[in-house]
Amino acid sequence: MRLNDHAVVITGAGGGIGRAAAVAFAADGAAVIAADLADKAGAVAEEIRRAGGRAVAVSADVSHSTDMSALAARSVQEFGGLHVLVTCAGLGGAGLLLEQDEREWTRVIDVNLNGTYRAIRAALPQMMAQRRGRIITIASILGKMGGYGFVSAYAASKHGVVGLTRAIASELGSQGFPGITVNAICPGYVRAGMGVAMQATKAGPMSGVEIFERYYKRLVPQRRMIEAEEIAHAAVFLALPESAGITGQALNVDGGFFMS
Ligand SMILES: NC(=O)c1ccc[n+]([C@@H]2O[C@H](COP(=O)([O-])OP(=O)(O)OC[C@H]3O[C@@H](n4cnc5c(N)ncnc54)[C@H](O)[C@@H]3O)[C@@H](O)[C@H]2O)c1
Repeated sequence: MRLNDHAVVITGAGGGIGRAAAVAFAADGAAVIAADLADKAGAVAEEIRRAGGRAVAVSADVSHSTDMSALAARSVQEFGGLHVLVTCAGLGGAGLLLEQDEREWTRVIDVNLNGTYRAIRAALPQMMAQRRGRIITIASILGKMGGYGFVSAYAASKHGVVGLTRAIASELGSQGFPGITVNAICPGYVRAGMGVAMQATKAGPMSGVEIFERYYKRLVPQRRMIEAEEIAHAAVFLALPESAGITGQALNVDGGFFMS
């Protein structure tokens, strides 16, 4: 068990990638605060406890700073600290720019980008007091590229997440907190969560798997979707003591998609 003395807060822990991350951290010995809207994280916390791990589920909306502060406080109260934050909460919000109204644009930016900011803002005082911490944001390769339509709000929000990640890594490293690292993971098409959900396309609503097969597969050198467990593995890797020198990175886990 490599992460026995770690308390890990995961937002969006009831989703496809969030669940896999919660299970992977718990399997490596970490105590997990699984946060999501309403009771959506209850099942994964239960699954971890049944397997002998430590986890509590918390209802927390990343749109509310007060929820994020309460989440950080809960980690300290339950498990004596907050050592890793993984921000998985997110919305797809697929649609063409001119067909989406401003409210939809604002909602996607508010959850994906501002929600990541709020979670980090709430966790940082405790990490600074500990002088150690790992912040792992789940961005997307659409945080580095424009995609092929229907993703303007999402891509803008994820470019923001990558920028925020790099800027805070730089700020913390240079302002006396080298023990706190900040990195993004940029998944390609994942076979879970919003990667398999129905989405809007020019040809009508289509499942993520079908969109991948029709439009994206030939652009991905490995010709396959990524499994949620592979994203979880990358998050655990970034949290390990041996990864202390990695900060400000945006790690693609995408089967070679972005590179190609
Ligand atoms: N699945 C993919 O192909 C893929 C690819 C790249 C990036 N991502 C990113 O990975 C992250 C997880 O996505 P997923 O695929 O597991 O999708 P998902 O929809 O299964 O998970 C997202 C979770 O976020 C939660 N959430 C939504 N709004 C929230 C809010 N206001 N407050 C708190 N929680 C909220 C949802 O309830 C859900 O459980 C997202 O940030 C997504 O953008 C996913």
